[in-house]
Amino acid sequence: MRFAVVHGPNLNLLGERQPDVYGDVTLEQVNQALTELGGELSVEVETFQSNSEGAILDYLASIRSRVDGVVINPAGLGHTSVVLLDALLAISLPVVEVHLSNPAAREAFRRHSYVSSAAVGVVAGFGLDSYLSGFRCLTNYVRRSRD
Ligand code: DQA
Repeated sequence: MRFAVVHGPNLNLLGERQPDVYGDVTLEQVNQALTELGGELSVEVETFQSNSEGAILDYLASIRSRVDGVVINPAGLGHTSVVLLDALLAISLPVVEVHLSNPAAREAFRRHSYVSSAAVGVVAGFGLDSYLSGFRCLTNYVRRSRD
C-alpha cells in the first residue's frame, strides 16, 4: 500500500510561521514522522508540498495509478479552491483532510472547506498528531474496504 501526503501553500514555512497557531514542528519533521509511521503500518509514503495551486493539481493527476489514498492539508486552498476539489474528485482515491489548527475555531472564512466534501474524514486541531491520526485512519479505511 502507498499513500501520498500533500501539503498546500505556506506549509513549507512550518516551524517559523505563526508558531502560536501551527506549532514549532517543521515540514521536514512532519514528513519524517509520517515516513516512520508508514514503516510501522507497512504503508509506503510519498510527500509533496507546493505553494502553487497548479503544481498541486498536476501532482494529484499524476499519482492516480500509483497510490491507494491521499492525506492532504490543503491549507488556505481548502477554503477557496473548487478546482482542488475537482482534482480530488477526479482521481477517485480515498482522501483524508488534515489541519494542524482547528479552522472551525478560527475566523469565519476558515469554517468552510471545499476539500471536505471529497474527503472520507477530517482531522483538525492536533498539530502533527492531525497528520498521524489522519494517516492511521486512512490506513484502516483502505484495509477495511479491501476485506
Ligand atoms: C491550515 C488551516 C488553514 O486555515 C490555513 O490557511 C493554513 C493551515 C492548518 O493546517 O491549520 O494554511 O490548513
